Amino acid sequence: MLEALKPQPQDKILQLIAMFREDQRADKIDLGVGVYKDPTGLTPVMRAVKAAERKLWETETTKTYTGLAGEPAYNAAMARLILAGSVPADRIASVATPGGTGAIRQALELIRMASPEAKVWLSNPTWPNHPSIIRYLGMPMAEYRYFDAASGGVDFAGMMADLARVAKGDVVLLHGCCHNPTGANLTAAEWAQVCDAMEARGAIPMIDLAYQGFGDGLEADAAATRMVAARFPEVLIAASCSKNFGIYRERTGVLIALSKDAGQKAITQGNLNFLNRQNYSFPPDHGARVVTMIVEDDALRADWMAELEEVRQNMLGLRQALADALRAETNSDRFDFVARHRGMFSRLGLTEAQVTRLREEHGIYMVGDSRINIAGLNARTVPVLARAVASIL
Ligand code: LMR
Repeated sequence: MLEALKPQPQDKILQLIAMFREDQRADKIDLGVGVYKDPTGLTPVMRAVKAAERKLWETETTKTYTGLAGEPAYNAAMARLILAGSVPADRIASVATPGGTGAIRQALELIRMASPEAKVWLSNPTWPNHPSIIRYLGMPMAEYRYFDAASGGVDFAGMMADLARVAKGDVVLLHGCCHNPTGANLTAAEWAQVCDAMEARGAIPMIDLAYQGFGDGLEADAAATRMVAARFPEVLIAASCSKNFGIYRERTGVLIALSKDAGQKAITQGNLNFLNRQNYSFPPDHGARVVTMIVEDDALRADWMAELEEVRQNMLGLRQALADALRAETNSDRFDFVARHRGMFSRLGLTEAQVTRLREEHGIYMVGDSRINIAGLNARTVPVLARAVASIL
């Protein structure tokens, strides 16, 4: 049986982890996978997470199964964090999932169950795992223009022109904030226009919210999601706690499915529970429980928010420093967009050959499309990257 299997392509982002590890150069720089690193290069366990884990260890008396949809308190906490009351609770169905990827997978399976013909529209470019999972599930998909390589901003006219071709019942997948891989984001006014377009076409919005708190702040980063949630009868929201709680390996995510009314919500919830049962039964609990403890405790929540804000400010500082260094080294404003971008990533607009040269000649690792993880930089490596980029242009 197994000899019938064909080799699978490696994930381009995850592949970089191994390549970087094998590189023996002491001064190599990792700007690959989207993991936050502090100025010393460490991906720290956040203070509030440590404190919650300590408390959990002391107080947890059982590891018996929790709900099939996850612990209700976690689902409620995530709905509050993301939606902040923008939608009545009796419209919110949700399941805890293994990370944001688990939430995306469950959302896509829900779409396929409800409407196998629906096309899923993806931004061009998008996180490569989006098309990869959709292809694996055999679902129809299409692309809308998103990034303007020349300006490093959003190709809004192109995006709107493509959204005008969406068919009734198609799903439009949007990045709620901190677009991955480009770092270029819609303004609030543009979000409103995107909502108008989706409404006019009868489209169903799906939002991938993996970086809440990494862009303009915890509330600001959820504003677009809340706008969409308040306007549409049906919305799918796949959210991750990997980045904003720094609990990557704990696999903590949530899928929220907004339904038009309480009656539909009950059916949607039953289908989400069913999907959990088919795919992995009960979702992982540890990370979800830690998140719940933090969000529900005033002191822990305040400390978490303060540390998340430090993380965000560190990335903003690095963005400005890199934009300044690139301006000085290249004697041009070509890379000024780096300071305007938000979130962990910026796409620099280099060719694949230039990315390869940066890796081979300078030991600088980034994704092949020239996406860099801003948090992989520090005060010492910003000028190193700027000089290296200038040297290969
Ligand atoms: C990334 O885009 O680097 C992260 O979301 C990590 C991943 O799973 O790809």
